[in-house]
Amino acid sequence: MATVYVILLTLHNLNRWLVLLTGVWTLIRSVPGIGRRSPFTPADRRPLAAFVGTVHLQLILGLLLYAFLGMQGAPVFAGAPNAGFQWQHLGLGVLAAITATVGSALSRRVPTDQGKFRTATTWTAVTLLLVLLMIPWWRPLLRLFTA
Ligand code: HEM
Repeated sequence: MATVYVILLTLHNLNRWLVLLTGVWTLIRSVPGIGRRSPFTPADRRPLAAFVGTVHLQLILGLLLYAFLGMQGAPVFAGAPNAGFQWQHLGLGVLAAITATVGSALSRRVPTDQGKFRTATTWTAVTLLLVLLMIPWWRPLLRLFTA
């Protein structure tokens, strides 16, 4: 069963980079659009959709990790610099999934192209900030199927 933990942890570790990359990609596409009069095209929607997808995947992997550690009676984030980190990680992670989803949904409803760029930028920036705050940076930056 320890193998399941290592696989989930590795996927959660690696997908963190996809979350960050797709978030930055979204900002690179949407920030310049705020000042221009260009249309919000499918090429602008693509990074946002990928960002929301990777955040949702991260949430699912995280919930599976919590469930697995809970079933084993193992501590979550043992050795974290502060004792409440596991709750900060869980809370900010769920919040990030909500802000990413809201940003994507609102950007579809806003009627103007400029509004779409502004909405995508604001909610992606907030989500990225939450993600940067909750990443346990003291853990391995790249984990490849090691405990
Ligand atoms: C975008 C959001 C998230 C990011 C970027 C993120 C990132 C990370 C990273 C980098 C690790 C360390 C992996 C390693 O040691 O190799 C980790 C561990 C973990 N994360 Fe997340 N996470 C996110 C959301 C969540 C959520 C929402 C949950 C729970 C529902 C969660 C639960 C966990 C658990 C249980 C661990 C392992 C703790 C342990 O091994 O003691 N994560 N996370």
